Amino acid sequence: MMDEKKLIEIASHARINSYSPYSKFRVGAALLTKSGKVFTGCNIENATYGATCCAERTAIYKAISEGEKEFEAIAVQGDNEGFTFPCGICRQVIAEFSPSIKVILSDKEKNIKVYPLSDLLPHAFYKEDLT
Ligand code: THU
Repeated sequence: MMDEKKLIEIASHARINSYSPYSKFRVGAALLTKSGKVFTGCNIENATYGATCCAERTAIYKAISEGEKEFEAIAVQGDNEGFTFPCGICRQVIAEFSPSIKVILSDKEKNIKVYPLSDLLPHAFYKEDLT
């Protein structure tokens, strides 16, 4: 059974491969699928800045491209002292697949906060809204 602390540890470790020469701010993510697999991600920056991909989206895209679409939780760990909240774009991308996913965050003191994604992105735009 994957607990919150363990998922944060995996996210923290995923920062090792962060490509962040511009911000020098490393972020790691660990995405737990409903089937029990874990996909990691790190932020990948770009000289154009705008082409940067956050750690959360890296993890989501890795999982989707491997055929996984149902997610239980995503843990995020940044280099700062406090909690690293997912950016707005990542919230929307996560919501596409798992509106009720648990978002797990930790600060430097290892305090853990858990939010349902719907608390971080109320009234998201979903595929049903296109009909
Ligand atoms: N970043 C993430 O990877 N995830 C977040 O939740 C916040 C921001 C990255 C993007 C960029 O590479 C760096 O952190 C600074 O914004």
